[in-house]
Amino acid sequence: MTETFLKNAWYCAGWDSDIGIGAKDLVVRKIAGRPILLYRKLDGGIVAMEDRCPHRSAPLSLGRKEQDSIRCMYHGMLFGPDGKCSHVPGMATVPDDARVPSLPVVERDNWVWVWMGDPAKADADLICEAIGPGNPDWILKTNKIQIKTNYRQEIQNLADLSHVSWVHEMTFGGTEDWGYIKPKHNVTPRGIETRYCVRQVPAPAFAKHLFPEDARFDIQVHVRMSVPCNFILSFAVHEAGDATSGPTNGRLLLDTFSSQAVTPRDDDSIDYYFSWGTSKATYIPGIVDLMHTANMEAFLEDKRMLEGQRERMLEFPNAPLVDIVHDAGPGRMLFVLDKLLQEENEAAAAREAAQ
Ligand code: FES
Ligand SMILES: [Fe+2]
Repeated sequence: MTETFLKNAWYCAGWDSDIGIGAKDLVVRKIAGRPILLYRKLDGGIVAMEDRCPHRSAPLSLGRKEQDSIRCMYHGMLFGPDGKCSHVPGMATVPDDARVPSLPVVERDNWVWVWMGDPAKADADLICEAIGPGNPDWILKTNKIQIKTNYRQEIQNLADLSHVSWVHEMTFGGTEDWGYIKPKHNVTPRGIETRYCVRQVPAPAFAKHLFPEDARFDIQVHVRMSVPCNFILSFAVHEAGDATSGPTNGRLLLDTFSSQAVTPRDDDSIDYYFSWGTSKATYIPGIVDLMHTANMEAFLEDKRMLEGQRERMLEFPNAPLVDIVHDAGPGRMLFVLDKLLQEENEAAAAREAAQ
């Protein structure tokens, strides 16, 4: 069977604060089609395992935490944090195959990352480089939303910011300039990297009231996207300079950073974990709250568009689609994803054939 989700990749399972240490803190995340149970051990480390008891498939998330272990509350089997069963009520020995698949977990930048593939290949260096809200040099606020869309559509949305002019007219936009930018997207081993400057634009709609009508800015953008759908954005606001190519030469006013991780739940929905804020060095009192509110509003604009798009795609599954110049970024990002998917699918087919 051809898989639509990469296995050998780190998937964000949420903010670290989503997973507590309380008796009832059993968090279930559906990640790439698979229900995953997450909880914290006494030492604070996070356990991730499939949320399915190997006896009769009861969700372990309906179970009970017993120190670092989890007891299935259907027939009482007890599983350690490595997924191995240590006790079956009424049996002196535990069946060899009484084991729940456990998954490698890493906490980084206040995000929780789960490796969905071969544990031997779980290289923490493959986690995208972000800036977490705990970083002392930044003031960042976080949030999360769910969107009913396939993650490929979310990739297309994030790899092409021309939509800022249209979808986000009332929040991030307020100028059509974004719709005319044609950035160069460089392919990286697991994604794309894009740098450009949007010149001489008015303040975004949500911050327009702070500046004179004729104030103009240069926005220096640096995006790093990586599989499955992580979007790491440096967005620096400068006074408008007079450079017409290359980086802006205007004075830096506000250095902002946004870390966004999109995790496919299944083919039809995604979990989206994001932050935005400014460096401490350029912070203006109140600005991060304003950005945070605008960010959530803007992502609800994306949600409305993406969910509408998804509905039409399901209604017209075979309708031809026209390509335009702004599809370059999405095309490159999907090219990388599809290449990695193809490699995994071929390796799986070869393994199957050898059996
Ligand atoms: S289903 Fe878990 S012990 Fe029976
Ligand atoms: Fe958007």
